[in-house]
Amino acid sequence: MQALDFTGKVVLVVGGSSGIGNGIAHSFRNQGAQVHVWGTRPSAADYDGVEGSELSGLVYDGVDVADRAQITRSAAAIARLDVLILCQGTVVYRRGEFEPEGWDRVMAVNLDSLMDCARTFHDRLAASQGSIIIVSSVSGFQSNRGNPAYAASKAGAVSLTKTLGEAWAREGIRVNGLAPGLVATKLTAITTENPQRREGALRAIPMGRMGTPEDMAGAALFLASPLAAYVAGQTLIVDGGLSLS
Ligand SMILES: NC(=O)c1ccc[n+]([C@@H]2O[C@H](COP(=O)([O-])OP(=O)(O)OC[C@H]3O[C@@H](n4cnc5c(N)ncnc54)[C@H](OP(=O)(O)O)[C@@H]3O)[C@@H](O)[C@H]2O)c1
Repeated sequence: MQALDFTGKVVLVVGGSSGIGNGIAHSFRNQGAQVHVWGTRPSAADYDGVEGSELSGLVYDGVDVADRAQITRSAAAIARLDVLILCQGTVVYRRGEFEPEGWDRVMAVNLDSLMDCARTFHDRLAASQGSIIIVSSVSGFQSNRGNPAYAASKAGAVSLTKTLGEAWAREGIRVNGLAPGLVATKLTAITTENPQRREGALRAIPMGRMGTPEDMAGAALFLASPLAAYVAGQTLIVDGGLSLS
C-alpha cells in the first residue's frame, strides 16, 4: 500500500537492538526506509547469535540513553530524520524498584530519556514534518505488581505523548504512542519462560495468545504513515484485549 511505503525515509528506533523495537525496525526497513537502531552494547557484532536481536540491514550505534551526552554524541551521526521511535525500556525485578537505585535507573531509561531523545531530534523532525512514536505499556494505565517505577514511568510516557502531541502538532510533528500488552522478549522472560506464569498470563488475554513484535510493528507503521495524518497525542493500545476487563 502506497501510504505504508517509507522509501527514502530515515527512521531511528531507540531500543531497536532487541525484541519489539527490533521487530519494528525490520518492518520499516521492509517498507523501504533507511533504519538506524540504538542499543546498549558497543557494536552490532556484540549481538551476534542473540535471540530477538537481528541487526543485519540496520545501522547500529551503542548508546546508553540514561546518559544525555551519549544521546547528543550519537544523534550527530543522523543528519536527517523522518520517524523517531522511542522503544527503549528496562525493568528491575525482586522489588528493586522500591529502592532508590532501582527507581532512578528505571525512571532515567523509561521516562527521562524519552524527553532527552525527543528534544534532541526536535529540529530535525520539524524540518522533515516527521513523527515520533513513544512505546509505553498497558502498565501505564493500571498498577503493576512489584514494579512501581516501571508503571509510573509508563504512565509518564503516556502523559508525555499527550503534551508533546499537543505542543509539537503546531510545528508539524505528530507525536503518538503505542502501548503493548504482553510480548515474549528478554524483558518479560521472567513471565513467559515460566510455564505457570505464562499460562496465567495467557488466560488473561481475550485473544488467547501473546503479542509479537510484528503485531506492534503494524501499529507503528500505521501511526507513522499518512493514514494517521490527523492523529496526535494518542496512545494506541495493542494488547489482544488484555486491558479490556
Ligand atoms: N515485552 C512486553 O511485553 C512489553 C509490554 C509493554 C511494553 N513494553 C515496552 O516495549 C519496549 C521494548 O521492550 P521489549 O519487551 O522489546 O524488551 P527488550 O527486548 O529488552 O528491548 C529493550 C530495548 O531497550 C534497550 N535499552 C534498554 N536500556 C537501555 C539504555 N539504557 N540505553 C539504550 N537502550 C536501552 C535494549 O537494548 P539492549 O538490546 O542492548 O538490551 C533493547 O533494545 C520497552 O519500552 C518496554 O517497556 C514491552
